[in-house]
Amino acid sequence: MRLALACLGFVASCAQQADCPPVPSSGSSSGAAQSSAAPSNSAAKAVASEAALLVFKEGGAERAAISARTLALSIAPVTVVQFDPYFKREKRYKTLPLAAVIERGFKGVNNLPQQEFILRTKDGKAVPLRGAKVFEEGAYIAFEDLDVEGWEPIGQQRENPGPYYLIWANKDQTDLETHPRPYQLMSIEVARFEDVFPRTVPKSATDSEAHKGFGLFREQCLHCHSINRQGGKLGPELNLPQSIVEYRPVEQIKSYIKNPLTFRYSTMPAHEKLSQSELDSLIAYFSEMKTLKQSDPAK
Ligand code: HEC
Repeated sequence: MRLALACLGFVASCAQQADCPPVPSSGSSSGAAQSSAAPSNSAAKAVASEAALLVFKEGGAERAAISARTLALSIAPVTVVQFDPYFKREKRYKTLPLAAVIERGFKGVNNLPQQEFILRTKDGKAVPLRGAKVFEEGAYIAFEDLDVEGWEPIGQQRENPGPYYLIWANKDQTDLETHPRPYQLMSIEVARFEDVFPRTVPKSATDSEAHKGFGLFREQCLHCHSINRQGGKLGPELNLPQSIVEYRPVEQIKSYIKNPLTFRYSTMPAHEKLSQSELDSLIAYFSEMKTLKQSDPAK
């Protein structure tokens, strides 16, 4: 759950917050230290995170590189207390709302919620995030651990999650499959969907039935299911080596998508709002993709 706006413009003063002491007059420090007794080297680590540049890329090229400190001049930092699935307990971070950060970094790019984003980490991991997800309420970029000075090590490798760590504030956002939390975040790229997931795109005319189904699939299914090995991994691949329409009867697929729990208990959510014609469009999409099987040679 979100607490009140914590340290509005922490570079300036925010004296009423216990976790955000007034800035020394030199201006060289920050709100990193939790008390005046803080060891200076861990405070320095936290400062480094605020100053680290988050790179924003478009079409493979850098368009901006902005530190949390600079972002916080125009975006109010928020203290977020949330259940953190990596630590399996509550954690407190100083953060910036992801949507505001994206709007700032990609100023001038139209229709941001309809774009695809790729979050890249220090070790080269690329985490795709749909625009709709980026703009979902509850996404924050943490730049300071408020429980442990510096950063509390994360994951099995006990890595430092800084400089930036994507967290989700709400109780129903703790599943790492649906709400990924890349840490050691270095850059965010905006890309056309077709460039990121080319093997999921049908070749028929853009007003075809299959394309209509593709639109639905891309919005509601792709983050869990892959087509031609591109997409999410929570659910099964639906085109390789056999397409779903090659081994299951169409009527069964349609009723399964609408209400999977009438077949078997699983984590596949129900899609009761899909109309018969939308279900037919999804089948048309699967049927076209059956003729466009393509695997990544690297896999
Ligand atoms: C939150 C993740 C998630 C989403 C979203 C999701 N699915 Fe699934 N889906 C799954 C999982 C997990 C399974 C496997 C369930 C099982 O094995 O019991 C599955 C199974 C299926 C199957 C059955 C595969 C088989 O061979 O039995 C089909 C078909 C399917 N999903 C289609 C879709 C479509 C179409 C959508 C979008 C409208 C969708 N799914 C959205 C997670 C998801």
